[in-house]
Amino acid sequence: MSTVAPVDADAAAVPQPPVVPGLTMTGRARMIAAARREAVDATPVWFMRQAGRCLPEYRALRRRHDFLTVARTPELAAEATLMPVDRFGVDGAVLFADIMLPLDGMGVPFRIEPSVGPVIDAPLRTAADVDALTVADAEEATGYVMDALRLLKGELGERAALLGFSGAPFTLACYLVEGRSSREYPKAKALMYGQPEVWHRLMATLAEVVTRYLRAQIAAGADAVQLFDSWLGLLGPREYAAYVAPYTARIFESLRGSAPTIHFSTGTVSLLDQIAATGPDVVSVDWRLPLDAAWARIDPDARGIQGNLDSSLVLAPWDAVEAGARDVLERAGGRPGHIFNLGHGILPETPPETLTRLVALVHEASRRETSGVDSGVRMA
Ligand code: CP3
Repeated sequence: MSTVAPVDADAAAVPQPPVVPGLTMTGRARMIAAARREAVDATPVWFMRQAGRCLPEYRALRRRHDFLTVARTPELAAEATLMPVDRFGVDGAVLFADIMLPLDGMGVPFRIEPSVGPVIDAPLRTAADVDALTVADAEEATGYVMDALRLLKGELGERAALLGFSGAPFTLACYLVEGRSSREYPKAKALMYGQPEVWHRLMATLAEVVTRYLRAQIAAGADAVQLFDSWLGLLGPREYAAYVAPYTARIFESLRGSAPTIHFSTGTVSLLDQIAATGPDVVSVDWRLPLDAAWARIDPDARGIQGNLDSSLVLAPWDAVEAGARDVLERAGGRPGHIFNLGHGILPETPPETLTRLVALVHEASRRETSGVDSGVRMA
């Protein structure tokens, strides 16, 4: 792993991650054990948006196919999913898809525009718009997602855990009502405050769609699933309790016992205890609270934690990245249940070599005994 791959590199030119000596678990076993708060040989690590534009091999794939074609073609989605596993040596392979794909079963056409994100030309504004939504069978409406997972299951083996995901009802509702990315989502929030019955009907429909979609992903081989509630930081505790949390709880409740669940949000320091109470196995947190302080708020005896290096810190020189990563690991203190990640997605300008080095550092610095005498690091 010496040279930086040229921009139009094919897969053969991708540098391999270094082998970290002394690891005894497979990436898949390490990730699943951590999600269940069981002992691991080292802290598992993966990155949100790991299969994106920071990878030259992804950019090469995107020159040949547009984003939704890659996401809706199982062979191409599988290829993109495997890229960061091959290059970085991460323990989690997150399905290459988008949070918007469950909309394929709801009768709402959308596009993904480069540098803009999801766009819906006919956003929902009225009770009739919400009543017209359909709840389809997830295998029928989004069978390409399930086919990609089934393909990946065979390709991945034990190298990495296969992670499925969906947008959460609130974040999907933000896009459905606003029609596109926005700083404040004023139209979505106006519907929430101004037409609460319509809002609740929309959220109930979305909770049902997301539950079916995630259940189908687990049946197709996902080892764990993550619920992305990216825009939750727009709400305060009262609004979250009244308009969102019951639907999130409904989803986690109906997945209980099937596969570990991860809740993702950012900017939600004021909501962490309520998020934990919705029932995910793991809560993903950003960098706005140190990891130990965040873990204390989400009930460390009941929940694992994912995070929380600043996504911008990996743009800095290596010494700063290393110090930040070591600080996160120290705050986790070797307690079972930590999954190392960034606080939000990888930025497109992130140097891939930094991420490869970061995965090796996390594994090496957190390496520990898993058998024999209990080292006492487990939480009471
Ligand atoms: O993590 C991964 O590698 C898996 C794939 C993944 C994508 N989107 C691929 C993608 C995941 C997990 C997502 C989730 C997603 N999509 C979220 C939640 C995560 C977060 O960042 O909070 C959100 C809000 C979206 C909606 C969305 N899709 C946005 C805002 C954008 C970016 C628009 C842009 O061009 O900047 C997309 C498009 C998208 N989704 C890209 C990728 C790799 C870039 C599209 C491209 O290749 O041109």
